[in-house]
Parts: sequence; C-alpha cells; structure tokens
Amino acid sequence: MNRTRCDRTPAWGQLQAAFEATGRSFDVRQAFAADPARFEAFSQSAPHVFADLSKNRIDAEAEALLLDLAQQTGLIAHRDAMFSGEAINNTEQRAVMHWLLRTPPLDPAMPAQSVHRHMAETLHEVHTTLDAMLAFAEKVRADEAITDIVNIGIGGSDLGPQMAVLALDEFVLPGKRFHFVSNVDGHELNAVLKKLKPESTLFLVASKTFTTIETMTNAQSAKRWFEAHGGTDIARHFAALTTHVAAARAFGISTTFGFWDWVGGRYSMWSAIGLPLAIAIGAQGFKEFLAGAHAMDEHFRNAPLAHNLPVRLGLLDVWYRNFHGFSSRSVAPYHSALKRYPAYLQQLEMESNGKRVDASGEALPYGTSPVIWGEPGTNGQHAYFQMLHQGTDVVPVEFVAVKQAKHMLPGHHTLLLANVLAQAQALMLGKTDDGGHKHFTGNRPSTLLLLDELKPASLGALIALQEHRVFVSGAVWGINSFDQWGVELGKVLAKEVEVRLKSGNTQGLDGSTAGLLARLRA
Ligand code: F6P
Repeated sequence: MNRTRCDRTPAWGQLQAAFEATGRSFDVRQAFAADPARFEAFSQSAPHVFADLSKNRIDAEAEALLLDLAQQTGLIAHRDAMFSGEAINNTEQRAVMHWLLRTPPLDPAMPAQSVHRHMAETLHEVHTTLDAMLAFAEKVRADEAITDIVNIGIGGSDLGPQMAVLALDEFVLPGKRFHFVSNVDGHELNAVLKKLKPESTLFLVASKTFTTIETMTNAQSAKRWFEAHGGTDIARHFAALTTHVAAARAFGISTTFGFWDWVGGRYSMWSAIGLPLAIAIGAQGFKEFLAGAHAMDEHFRNAPLAHNLPVRLGLLDVWYRNFHGFSSRSVAPYHSALKRYPAYLQQLEMESNGKRVDASGEALPYGTSPVIWGEPGTNGQHAYFQMLHQGTDVVPVEFVAVKQAKHMLPGHHTLLLANVLAQAQALMLGKTDDGGHKHFTGNRPSTLLLLDELKPASLGALIALQEHRVFVSGAVWGINSFDQWGVELGKVLAKEVEVRLKSGNTQGLDGSTAGLLARLRA
C-alpha cells in the first residue's frame, strides 16, 4: 500500500501556515460580505443530497491545500484499492467491499461496467444471496400470521437496520411491528417478550461472527422463551443473519442468510443484516435503498476531488480536527424519523476512526475521530443548543433537512424548516449585546445536508455518503478505518469479572473493582 501519512506531506506544513495566516481569524460573515458567490463555491450536489458547506470556516485557499493533502497522502490510490478489492484492512488481512453489496448485477451488454472483472463471481454470489433474502422478506410480508419481527443483534448488527426501519417508517408495511433487542440487560428483551406470542413472532438473530456475548445470550433466552411458551417450529420462527452459518446451525437455526468477511459490521446493513429493513419496506424498497447508495459510490469513485462531496466533507473534518482543534461534531437531523441516525453515525465514525496509531502501528502525533453526538431537531434546540451558541467550545454542527414532508398536518413542516435554517443562521451570524449574557459571538460553523424526500434511495445515498467521508478522513490520517481492536479488552475482562462476580474472588483485582464487586455481592 502506497500511503503517505498526512503530517509527512508538504501540504500539511502549508496548511499549518495558512491556518496561522488566515484560518485562525477566519470569519464566515466577512467571507460572505467579500464574496457574493460563496454559496455557489461552497455548495455541492451529489446523488440525492445537496450540501451547503458555505457556513464553514474555510476559504478557497484552505480547500485547495486540503485537496493537495488528499493527493499527497494517496487518497485516490487508497480509494481505488478499496474498489478493487485489495486487503486494505491490513490488521485483519481483509478486503473492504461493502460497496459491492449495492453494485447492480453485471450486464453482458455493458462490458465497461465499473466493477472489476475478477469480482464478477463474487458479485454473482452477492446477487444470488440478495435474491434469496429478498424472496424470504416477501414471504414474511405476505404471511399475515407473523406480526412481530424481533431483531437480536448489537453494534452494526443492530444500529443500521434499526436506524433505517425507523427512518423509513412511512414505507413500512402496515400490520408488522419491528423490535430491536441489543443490550445484554435482560430488561430490554423482557420488555419486548411481554408483548409477543410465539406463533406470531419471527426472531432474526443478527451477528456477523455469531459469537457476540450479548447477542448469543439474548438469542438463547429468546429460544428458551419460545419453547417454554409452546413454540416448536424453530425453522419458521428463527432465522440467522451471519457470516458463520455453521455456528447458527449448531445453535439450532436452519434458516440462514450469509454474508462475507469483507463486510465490516458497521458497514453491513446492505447485506443480510438488512433483512429487517427488507421485510419492512419490501424487496423493491430495499433495491431502491441499495441503488441510492450505489449512486453515491459512483459519485465518490468518479467525481473530481474538488467536486466530490464525501471528499469535501472528509477534508473539512481534517481541517477542523487537526488545525482548528475542534474535537467534536454535533449531528442534527431535522426529521423525527432520523432519531437513531446520530447513534448510527457514532459507531460508523468513532469505531472506524477512533485510532491512535497509523496503519503500520506507529503512534500518531495528531488527533483522529471527533466525538459524534446529537439528537433530532427541534428537540436539541431546547436542550444542548445553548452550549452550541454560547459555550466556550466551538462545535461544528451538521444539519440534515428534508424538503418534502410525508404528512399533511398544516404548518408543521414550514416551521421545522424555518427552525433548521434559523439555527444555522444564528450560529453563523451571532448577535451583539454588549458582550454579556445575551451576546452571541457567531462565526460558529455548520453544514446543511438537504434531501428532497426521506425515501429508501435518499437514505441509502446519505448513509453511503457518511461511509465515504469517514473513509476520506481515515485515509488522510493514515489509519486503518476497518478494524476495531479497541473493543476487545473490555470483552475479555467482562468474562473474567463475570466469574469473579459469581465466586466472590477479588484476589489480585485492582482496589476499585474489588470494592465495587464486594458491594454488589453484599
Ligand atoms: O464489539 C464491536 C463489534 O465487533 C462491532 O464492530 C460489531 O458491529 C458488533 O460488535 C457486533 O458484532 P457481531 O455482528 O459479530 O455480533
């Protein structure tokens, strides 16, 4: 892999100099006053998404240097390596090919299709699996006896399908209820089981590895509950979504939908892990969701860097994290159905780019993943927006707005859109009031992502956009965005502590854990 770390490029030093010269004191209001074409220069159309980047603390010079940085770190070669199936997840020796899951089948009449020839067989397998999964989804949709679908999974095997089923609520088949159980906390599963009957429930056990302790514990309890309440037909009422089909069979589940180790957990909603969504919105809706994401893939692969939305967003992230020193980003979807979108993005970005070493294992002297957090608007406005407007830290905000509503309630949508525009405006413009309690400094940066409609295709495009912008910042930082070793230590320790909680043995434990363990057992 031919990657140059960002801090070892000429552009890095030039960006530092540009930041000191003009970046630190940059004022978005002055930039608008000086350049009437700023909105056009700093907005970008991409499939299904229009982005207004103009309220950010960036000018043409900084953006040009960031584009140089992208070139000098080898972003293009790294992107092309992903799209040609190279093992860019180098610590696990795996290819990164979630994008292939949304690539249309090869058309013999179009030999120049973008997918590489050597992947034709894999793509064929992808479509055979997809067709089987979609046929199953349609069967469940037509089966009136099944009213409740329970997805048991965690992390990428939960957040994606849950976020998408909620987001596309307007497209969900009436008469089917969807439940998502992820936490090992039995309160969660118990609360769902209370509402169910075995004969009308379909459990989907979603786990890439089929070893995750939370999912295995919940699946075992669900199976016990099913049998204890008279359920017998496991083949009809349980299905497994996993790369480890043999483990699912050993667990007693014969209905299985597989995927591949080149799909990362947090990138897996396009695979069999998307089955709850396929049941919810149907095969056609799921295909539209994939097509929207594919359109964004093509944009990422083919648009020149200067007009490539994932590239522009990812480079802005680098500019803010490493030069302005902003360590968090707030995401504010102004659509109540996007309530799990912030949680989804937390895993996508923080598990991908929350790394302290580069791809070769060397410690990094600069920051990587920001903290991602947020809530749907307008609710956030009445909670933490105070801090965004007047707090001591500057937090870039990324709004999502949707032009058309799917309801007919008069007045609401105009008010919602007025609020998203007003918040972005207030952050930027501020308000002078003698420097006291009612003073707003303004010049607080924000981006607005605008969708015409929240529908399967636009959601697919929005999520693929987010995947690729995370790829871009991770590529520039020189890290491996596709492993997650940081989650392992806690898993190992939990097993040991579980044994000690049962036995009461505190020998050799640190003082705090020993004290807490003793209190829990008292
Ligand atoms: O612990 C982190 C993690 O490995 C995530 O990356 C993943 O999405 C989640 O656990 C669930 O893993 P699985 O799908 O294998 O159960």
